[in-house]
Amino acid sequence: MPKYSDELINEIFSQNDIVDYVSQYVKLKKNGRDYTGLCPFHKEKSPSFHVNQEKQLFHCFGCGAGGNLVQFVMRTEGLDFVEALKLMADRAGIILPENDEPVDDKLYRKKKRILEINKTAARFYYEILTKDNLGKAGLEYLKKRAIDSNTITKFGLGYAPDIFDALKKYMNRLGFTDSELLDAGLVVLRNGKAVDKFRARVIFPIIDLRGNVIAFGGRIIENIQKDGYKPPKYLNSPDTPVFNKGKNLFSLNLAKKDCSENCILCEGYMDVISVYKAGITNITATLGTALTEDQAKLLMKYTDEILLCYDGDEAGQAATRRAIDVITSVGGKCRVMQLKGAKDPDEYINKNGPAMFKEVIKNSLASTEYLISLIRKKYNLDTEDGKILFVEEASTVLSKLQNAIETDAYIKKISDETEISKEAIYAEIRKHKSSGKIAGGPKRTVRTNFTAKKQESGIVAEAERKLLSLIIESKASYNAVKNDFLPSDYSNELLGKLAEIVYGCYERGEPIDSAVITSKFSSDEADYVSGIFCNLETYTDEKNTIAQLVNKIKIHNLDIKIEQAKKEGDVLKLKELLDLRLRLGRE
Ligand code: CTP
Ligand code: MN
Repeated sequence: MPKYSDELINEIFSQNDIVDYVSQYVKLKKNGRDYTGLCPFHKEKSPSFHVNQEKQLFHCFGCGAGGNLVQFVMRTEGLDFVEALKLMADRAGIILPENDEPVDDKLYRKKKRILEINKTAARFYYEILTKDNLGKAGLEYLKKRAIDSNTITKFGLGYAPDIFDALKKYMNRLGFTDSELLDAGLVVLRNGKAVDKFRARVIFPIIDLRGNVIAFGGRIIENIQKDGYKPPKYLNSPDTPVFNKGKNLFSLNLAKKDCSENCILCEGYMDVISVYKAGITNITATLGTALTEDQAKLLMKYTDEILLCYDGDEAGQAATRRAIDVITSVGGKCRVMQLKGAKDPDEYINKNGPAMFKEVIKNSLASTEYLISLIRKKYNLDTEDGKILFVEEASTVLSKLQNAIETDAYIKKISDETEISKEAIYAEIRKHKSSGKIAGGPKRTVRTNFTAKKQESGIVAEAERKLLSLIIESKASYNAVKNDFLPSDYSNELLGKLAEIVYGCYERGEPIDSAVITSKFSSDEADYVSGIFCNLETYTDEKNTIAQLVNKIKIHNLDIKIEQAKKEGDVLKLKELLDLRLRLGRE
């Protein structure tokens, strides 16, 4: 965060109007207390993008993007916070004091330097592969895998020669120090000496949406085995100030313009490259890890539907189920492609060609249908027991669906095949649904594309979120809660941080300035925070709702402590906690 004072930031915000500025990008219409329009950050047909003039915040209830004016400018112009703030200061004729050097500048300069290093290194690897004798082995390997020179150029592939300091020396000559190369993850220390991280490997640069090379993957060339030691097939850059492997996707920069309708998501670099080469360009891959919420949200900004195309093995199947969970939990839609007779998309398309691959896309299963088909395989539907167990388990899947028409269609299908009545299946689904709900909840629920990091506290995070949004709405709510529920009581870290700021404003008698407060959060966090400020929920009985929410959260936290005490065998403590639990339960 920059060192600029809240007053200065406040001044910049008050001299610029978010509705005025956003209108240059989005056609906005007054709609209740908000302005709404089509979200510029994801593809949509009906407007879920809200701008709140009073709060000077935007929030998209479709993709979850949100923040204040400066954060809007960051996204649309691809700037960092300080750059965007400067732009808005300029626009308002405010001159930022020169000596008010932001603390973040150091990190900013470091990032810039790493990007420069990566770009230079990518060019080095590319030149070696395409023009140098040292790259012959790499070129031959790629040829064997049917990768032509156009594809090499398109993806900027390269080769790291089998020399322990080729890149290091080259970069040193250009003025990049060992310590900078270490920061970039391109060298590692061996006995205190810097040596190249990637050696004798084909190089896959990882490029972000703005075209920056942010990291590298390197693949060994088959049959190279050193001193009886078999090195890992792929080696990847470590996380650095410009790279977080859970937040980026391979080749999304190439896929983004072709994937508005749907986007294939697979596991490997070579899967993407082979499928892309065959003319199917809406494809991206995770980077050797399980799909994260951040990656799913990122992809959903560019596409309406994710087509999961993982490897056919057991690990790929398990990863598919996890990916469905992740995508659904952030409000996305996905289908599952099933490859027959090949271990991965790369092998499949090389064997069968693009037309057959497109057939696989056409025959893909909606995620719900896929999950139900997996459950169906577990049971023998010729027996009564089998039918019952199948319906019970399938109901848990159906209880998570948001769309009534879709739910209905599956119920009908399951009822037909098991001869169990639709009513009974409905009842089963309702049972699962009601177990996850808060009594006396809001009239209208809002979809936020953010789920708390800790999955197990999802319901509680939701309760905490509602509680805090009520506190922000009125000082009376704050007064009702302040002694009972402290910022440190929030189990969700982000909410705790926000609560601390909000409580502090109330204590000091300052207004709750949503735009300035949102500035204290990173872009990603601002998505969530703006959602709380722009909350559309209305409550029939505020006081009662607050009491219920606090109670619910406390019971949850108590339950955790009770479990802990049980594990520790602390009988005295357990008794005390159980008493407390009983009292809370009665309230
Ligand atoms: N991966 C990794 N580290 C490894 C193995 C795999 O980071 N040691 C990542 C890579 O991104 C790789 C992906 O996981 O592309 C899938 O791994 P795998 O299926 O084993 O490799 P393929 O993509 O099939 O690679 P290839 O076709 O080159 O053998
Ligand atoms: Mn493969």
